[in-house]
Amino acid sequence: MNNIEKLIEERHSVRSYLDKDIEKEKIDVLNNLISSINESQHLNIQLITNDSEVFDKFVLHYGRLKNCKNYIALIGKKDKSLEEKVGYYGQMIVLKAQEIGLNTCWVAGTYKKSAVKAKINEDEKLLCIIAVGYGETNGNKRNSKTIDEVNISVEYPKWYENGIRYALLAPTAMNQQKFKFEYLGNDSVKAYSKRGPMTKIDLGIVKYHFELGANKKIDWK
Ligand SMILES: Cc1cc2nc3c(=O)[nH]c(=O)nc-3n(C[C@H](O)[C@H](O)[C@H](O)COP(=O)(O)O)c2cc1C
Repeated sequence: MNNIEKLIEERHSVRSYLDKDIEKEKIDVLNNLISSINESQHLNIQLITNDSEVFDKFVLHYGRLKNCKNYIALIGKKDKSLEEKVGYYGQMIVLKAQEIGLNTCWVAGTYKKSAVKAKINEDEKLLCIIAVGYGETNGNKRNSKTIDEVNISVEYPKWYENGIRYALLAPTAMNQQKFKFEYLGNDSVKAYSKRGPMTKIDLGIVKYHFELGANKKIDWK
């Protein structure tokens, strides 16, 4: 198993955290990546540390984030490609956090949006946040669809299959996995997504994983 595959296999959503600060060096690693993404993609992603108010008093059982005090606010200019872009680059940050020994959880619903401390400009939108910190555990493996359930094509190269394998390990809202792939020849792949809440963010996340599995930039259709 290569390093990226290991990271992807070992990443699970973590909802219970230790009361342990993230070291300055690790904060710098995350902030450096965030800055370079913001610059190249014209996003306004921000890491907020030592602030737990967004997770306070959330009574719902599902999705309660316990003891988390750091999060990454995913913000960008309102336009039709924002959700997918935030998914793609948000997951890049998630895997970087995993690489430096931190745990994460994408959070679009179970947080107090009004308590987010990030600066959001008038033409921008906060789509969701990513909880980050030291987990009580590294989380658990969950159920997944199979390759056959998300693949439409009959014949395809090995890299396409690897892309799907990694895509199936990607986080999606409520583990919905509402995506399908079709091989179109050369480096071209069509990614389909059913309609529904968060499916565009999910699709960006899943495309990032797919490219890591395929080990190439895909010509997405
Ligand atoms: C866009 C998005 C939004 C999510 N929103 C929440 C949320 O509000 N609360 C929560 O506890 N988990 C949330 N999750 C985490 C998913 O439930 C989790 O990723 C999924 O069950 C798959 O599990 P895994 O991340 O361990 O692979 C979200 C995930 C994604 C991708």
